[in-house]
Amino acid sequence: MESGKEKNLKAMVVYYSATGNTGKVANAIHEALLAKDVESTLLKVQDAAAEELYDYDLVFLGSPSIEFLPPAPMMRYIKNKLNLHRARGDIKLCAPRVPNKTAVVFCTYSGPHTGLDEATTADKYMAQLREHIGFYVAGEWYVVGECHNGRDLNTLGRLGDIRGRPNEQDLAKVRDDTSMLVRSMGKRLSQFPADAHVTMTDREVVAGGGQ
Ligand SMILES: Cc1cc2nc3c(=O)[nH]c(=O)nc-3n(C[C@H](O)[C@H](O)[C@H](O)COP(=O)(O)O)c2cc1C
Repeated sequence: MESGKEKNLKAMVVYYSATGNTGKVANAIHEALLAKDVESTLLKVQDAAAEELYDYDLVFLGSPSIEFLPPAPMMRYIKNKLNLHRARGDIKLCAPRVPNKTAVVFCTYSGPHTGLDEATTADKYMAQLREHIGFYVAGEWYVVGECHNGRDLNTLGRLGDIRGRPNEQDLAKVRDDTSMLVRSMGKRLSQFPADAHVTMTDREVVAGGGQ
């Protein structure tokens, strides 16, 4: 695990993208996972309904912020998954952690009016699905993305000139953050067996193996 090859991890990147920005970020994550020898599956949200989340050690969920929330296809996916997991009894009071299940949510946004605040609600919304079924949400990532039919929104808004974003620098940071996360997961997995009942961080209390 210390070698940078995290062969035991299985990851899935699920995203929705109307104009390509979130797709670029999802691809950058997928590439970085493959570069670390993680087995990674990249799926548009429209094709991800049948995937079992607990089959994966690491799941990414990404969306643009549209009127401060994920748009309809992502909302449908989240609601359907919530219904499925509720019916199966996976959603428990106090949301105990299922060991070694990690999630990251990511959002692209233009922030012309209030900046980052226009995106946090979208990421937080997506994160709740993961937390409700016992995943540890290791990151809420935000990446600036130009509004493709925006004009003034891309030059005169709160974030200044955002034309061409996410640009290569934005995507390089996404790849770096993904590699760093995989490295940290590799270390934790080698330190703690899958059924360990331990407290790893304040936010990551593994409660009774997910009962
Ligand atoms: C109808 C519409 C509503 C939007 N609403 C917001 C918003 O509330 N906050 C924000 O920061 N960006 C907003 N945006 C900008 C998008 O979030 C941004 O361009 C995003 O990167 C698009 O992602 P995509 O190319 O993956 O579809 C909106 C864009 C459109 C077209």
